Amino acid sequence: MNTKILIWDRIVRLGHWLLACSFIVAYMSAESERWRVVHVVSGCLVFAAVIMRVVWGFVGSYHARFINFVRHPKHAWAYLKSLTNKKPEHHEGHNPAGGWAVLGLLSLSLLASVTGWMAYNNLGGTKLSEWHELASNLAVLLVIVHVFAVIVSSYLHRENLITSMFTGLRHGNLSARIKDARAASIFLYFLVVACIAYAAYRYT
Ligand code: HEM
Repeated sequence: MNTKILIWDRIVRLGHWLLACSFIVAYMSAESERWRVVHVVSGCLVFAAVIMRVVWGFVGSYHARFINFVRHPKHAWAYLKSLTNKKPEHHEGHNPAGGWAVLGLLSLSLLASVTGWMAYNNLGGTKLSEWHELASNLAVLLVIVHVFAVIVSSYLHRENLITSMFTGLRHGNLSARIKDARAASIFLYFLVVACIAYAAYRYT
């Protein structure tokens, strides 16, 4: 169990920080007219990062695939209960509660970016701006819970999960390790992200 193995491939890691940074920039530039272009561009990047994460959730490495971390809610509940024990359940990839948080973060980021794009293009009337604000605020709330959960989990499992999102390494059994994404896949990943974000920006 003390062995450090590769769990998050480079696309998961780069994709995570791309999503996190674009989300934060989009949120921080939302209120100012002067930063409107920054807000729209970062919103388009959020959209592209989410689309690519969904695709990677079907074709990516073992721990990146939805089928390997989205569990029945009863498992999420059992995991949360185990946190009160001395030996909480250990999962090499996302734990069952984290799996639902991932779906929530992706869905709300998608909803916030799509409603923002539609509102910016005057599609859907004033109601849509309200939906955009609601989705964005709910996403921020979930991000706060997410970061808090990551810090608490790191403490309870005696493992720095934030560092793992940079290195890809976590404690676990050798049988759970993955192979990293190749340079060509990373190049393709960024190319497609740039194309999606550019297309979204171009059609505003
Ligand atoms: C800036 C502070 C943030 C930190 C320190 C952070 C940290 C982390 C860590 C450590 C994980 C892995 C959790 C695990 O071990 O199961 C993770 C996963 C994730 N985070 Fe964050 N996060 C941050 C911000 C965000 C933001 C702003 C978003 C989206 C709006 C986000 C979305 C996600 C998603 C979707 C995953 C799943 C990764 C995947 O499977 O691709 N995070 N985050």
